[in-house]
Amino acid sequence: MVAEPSPRIRGGRFPAAGWWRRRSLRFRLTATASAILALALALSAYVFVGVLSKALAQTIDDEVYQHAREVVALADAGRLGDQIVTTDNTIVQVLDASGRIVNATPGTDRLVPLLGERQREAAIRSGLPRFLDGRPYGIPGPLRVRALSADEGRTVIAARSFKEVQGSLETTGHVLIVGTPLLLILLAAASWLIIGRTLRPIALLRRGAAEISGTARARRLPVPEARDEVHSLATTLNDMLARLEAAGARQRALISDASHELRSPLASIRLQLEVALSHPEGQDWRETAEGVLEDTMRLSRLAEDLLALARLDEGRTAGREPVDLAELAGRTVERHGVTGDLTPGVTVYGDALDLGRVLTNLVANAVRHATSTVVVGLRTEFGGTGSGSTGSGSTGSGSTGSGSTGFGGAGSSAGGGAGGDTAVLTVTDDGPGIPEEDRERVFDRFTRLDSARSRDDGGAGLGLAIVRETVRAHGGSVHLEDAAPGLRAVVRLPLATSHESR
Ligand SMILES: Nc1ncnc2c1ncn2[C@@H]1O[C@H](COP(=O)(O)OP(=O)(O)OP(=O)(O)O)[C@@H](O)[C@H]1O
Ligand SMILES: [Mg+2]
Repeated sequence: MVAEPSPRIRGGRFPAAGWWRRRSLRFRLTATASAILALALALSAYVFVGVLSKALAQTIDDEVYQHAREVVALADAGRLGDQIVTTDNTIVQVLDASGRIVNATPGTDRLVPLLGERQREAAIRSGLPRFLDGRPYGIPGPLRVRALSADEGRTVIAARSFKEVQGSLETTGHVLIVGTPLLLILLAAASWLIIGRTLRPIALLRRGAAEISGTARARRLPVPEARDEVHSLATTLNDMLARLEAAGARQRALISDASHELRSPLASIRLQLEVALSHPEGQDWRETAEGVLEDTMRLSRLAEDLLALARLDEGRTAGREPVDLAELAGRTVERHGVTGDLTPGVTVYGDALDLGRVLTNLVANAVRHATSTVVVGLRTEFGGTGSGSTGSGSTGSGSTGSGSTGFGGAGSSAGGGAGGDTAVLTVTDDGPGIPEEDRERVFDRFTRLDSARSRDDGGAGLGLAIVRETVRAHGGSVHLEDAAPGLRAVVRLPLATSHESR
């Protein structure tokens, strides 16, 4: 149940939505912030006016009630004179039981009560102040009126004009009506500026990215000083650029190295053919053909190696069938006529062709450099496939000639591959070895040591690179170590059983 975006929103039914999405981020952020701000300001103005009018009305009501109470007290005590005096503008009327006005504040109507009989009764009963239009009594604006009953059926009505309060509320309203939009405009302008400032590093980033494409030299995006999200975005993107650049450089180097390697056999073929053609008489065509064939073989090996590397680079995972390493190694040992010390039944998951190539490359190297003996060993071991050298250094060098030498420590000779989770494949020769500082470097593509460069049976320097990448693709590791004398290549691969037990 994936919620599909409604076609109505995507389509033309709500053109405003599309319009909105096409606006700049700055505009949308500012507009959203301003809209929320406007709502908040309007709400607070509304609440403010409400609270203010309530408070002011309360003050007036309290004063009116106070006066009414005082007059009631005087009336009950019989000390009410003819005229009632109030310090503020409160109007008071005292009515007798028949509804006639008997006392009033100066200037107050002495004939018509502010409240009719019914209203008086209702006001007394509710005990609440109420509004009254003052105009019939010659008082502009509304009045707040309160009625209280006194002894002898008398009623005291007190009232006060609400006009002042209304006036101040109106003033407040005017201030808010003009001030709130002004404040809103101010805040919107501030948001616009602040958001623009915030987004500027992104704009700079974009401009930097636009300038990068097409230029050959190393380029980086501008990194803002502030340690914020944009900063980390810029550094992450720069890391990515660096990686892409390195990958591009590697690719270019590979192409140039490959072209270089292709050139010499091609030049050799051309030379042989040119010489043969320019002196056809007395030419040994068979010899020429053999020479050309040799160069062609070199070319085809190079093409195959490059293809294998390209395949590994693409990360095309090797086949995942169980491969009997002992059998595979046995065949390689036979083919190259070297010595084997192989624990039977060691099985790993992978691609038999690829693993065969690993073996062939290592054995070919060993055979090429060995003085007399090459030994291929296979055993199992506990403890991962990490590249740390854990191989026991006391294994026989195999320099005594044929016959199996004591490879492998405890548990390795137990048949059936039992007793470990890692297959350890070793190829040992008794040649000159590789100096410690070069033992990693030789895994790089097209890397040949000077000693090998001078030999004409040397390859392109791709063998160990293919070995390492293949072993890695199989979840294993490979390293070279000193076999004193000679060199030992150690390949570790996870056993098939350890895969199954997962
Ligand atoms: N057993 C070894 N003893 C001494 N040096 C070695 C041994 N194996 C490899 N090397 C050195 O490491 C270099 C790289 O080996 P690698 O197998 O990658 O290339 P290569 O054998 O020269 O060419 P290719 O394998 O492509 O035919 C070799 O050129 C050689 O100098
Ligand atoms: Mg090689």
